[in-house]
Amino acid sequence: MNSTANSTTTSTAPTTDTTTAQIARGAYLAKAADCAGCHTAPPRVTHPGAAPTATPAFAGGLGMVSPFGTIYSSNITPDPRSGIGRYSYDDFARAVREGVAPGGKRLYPAMPYPSFAKIDDADLHALYAYFMHGVQPVAAPAPATRLPFPFNQRWALAVWNWAFAPSGPFKPEPTRDAQWNRGAYLAQSLGHCGACHTPRGAAYEERGYSEADPLFLTGGTNDHWFAPNLTGDPGSGLGRHSAADIAAFLKHGHGGGLIAFGSMVQVVEDSTQYLSDADLAALAAYLKSLPPRAPSGHFNERSRAARQSVQALKTGDVERPGAGLYAAYCARCHQTDGAGVPQKYPRLAGNPAVLSASSTSLVRLLVEGGRSPRTEHGPEPRKMPSFADQLSDSEMAHVLTFIRNTWGNAAAPVTTRDVSSVRGALHK
Ligand code: HEC
Ligand code: HEC
Ligand code: HEC
Repeated sequence: MNSTANSTTTSTAPTTDTTTAQIARGAYLAKAADCAGCHTAPPRVTHPGAAPTATPAFAGGLGMVSPFGTIYSSNITPDPRSGIGRYSYDDFARAVREGVAPGGKRLYPAMPYPSFAKIDDADLHALYAYFMHGVQPVAAPAPATRLPFPFNQRWALAVWNWAFAPSGPFKPEPTRDAQWNRGAYLAQSLGHCGACHTPRGAAYEERGYSEADPLFLTGGTNDHWFAPNLTGDPGSGLGRHSAADIAAFLKHGHGGGLIAFGSMVQVVEDSTQYLSDADLAALAAYLKSLPPRAPSGHFNERSRAARQSVQALKTGDVERPGAGLYAAYCARCHQTDGAGVPQKYPRLAGNPAVLSASSTSLVRLLVEGGRSPRTEHGPEPRKMPSFADQLSDSEMAHVLTFIRNTWGNAAAPVTTRDVSSVRGALHK
């Protein structure tokens, strides 16, 4: 928080009931909700060869890929013309919780208002105080969203909202303790974890908004990243990971040998790394309470096959397609025994993301490469190379099938067609 928050240097003087503490609280909640992650455009390259320069926070213009086309986020700085400076608290509450901007403009659910509907009044007042008094106004309109017909008909979203969007605040579960309820609140409202981790239906609606719904947090695909099952499934879910591992993963992007990749990197960098230890523990406790659902994949480190595969890789005595590719291209970082290197390279043995029902993220990572999260207190970021120019579609299928079925891992094979369809969609 900058110290100008409640001084006269900001555009609007805070009212008497807006305290510095409330603005600071709002700044924390904006991190928990990752408002900046979606409402800040990527760094701009002003001329060829120049280093990219950061764009102003909250000024909008990030293009979000949806099945209907690219949706640009709005400028939500307090600028009166380009941003939300003229919003009353009620306007703000209606936009954030119901997806209706002043003038009746319906927002696309790329803005996660179906989750934000559960943000409580005290938190929403703090967020409003922060956006009005703690954020620098930026006088530059965000690019307009132009979707093809019929998706450009925003009025139709009223019907969508009527059919799908949940309404009303979060209801605490009286049979659970305060920590569980705090975790449930964070996951379901501000954290909008379900926006990525819950499967979507044909109308792009999330198929559940709380643990009462059987598909809630069982895994979902957005923009060709599959966000895994976060329930207690011991294969592709979090069943074998402790609450402490999960909290560490959210804080540093590293936990229990897993490293955040794909769209989770930004979630860790922009949002979860800033959560207090108590809030991280609450989120982890809540996730650990979810019963195993949508089971997929298995891991048995003591199986005979597990021992054999390590031995075979060590001696080079392997005939399975993919083994040679693994030894040549992957083992130097992920190691022959698939255990990775702590703080550097993720373990692949028993990694739920490797065992997931969907291989979309694995293919995308292999094609594009990746970088582990950069956080204030976590390990240095490391790169996973892109294999787009080195491996053919069938080689990628072989090496992925291999890592999904070695060291005690057991998951459905990846076919050449699976790889081709993701690469085709990514144009890579
Ligand atoms: C997952 C991405 C995402 C996150 C997180 C997100 N937004 Fe949005 N938001 C959007 C998109 C995209 C739009 C534009 C939707 C449209 O044009 O229909 C939008 C629109 C809005 C609008 C409407 C502005 C207008 O008048 O057009 C407001 C207000 C808003 N967001 C506030 C917030 C706040 C506050 C937070 C954090 C609590 C937040 N958003 C978090 C994606 C996001
Ligand atoms: C923008 C989409 C997105 C959002 C929002 C999101 N995640 Fe993720 N998450 C992913 C993806 C993609 C992965 C798979 C890559 C990886 O394992 O890091 C993932 C992985 C994870 C993992 C590791 C699971 C595993 O099996 O490896 C955990 C734990 C997790 N997310 C927790 C959360 C929590 C808690 C929230 C809400 C506070 C959240 N995520 C919000 C996209 C998202
Ligand atoms: C130079 C070291 C290096 C090499 C070589 C490498 N990787 Fe990686 N790999 C990484 C790093 C670093 C990450 C974390 C990436 C991120 O966070 O975006 C990673 C992540 C992964 C993940 C996601 C698991 C997780 O929890 O983050 C999979 C799956 C994976 N690599 C498979 C492979 C395969 C298959 C190969 C060989 C074709 C390979 N890697 C080669 C460094 C490497």
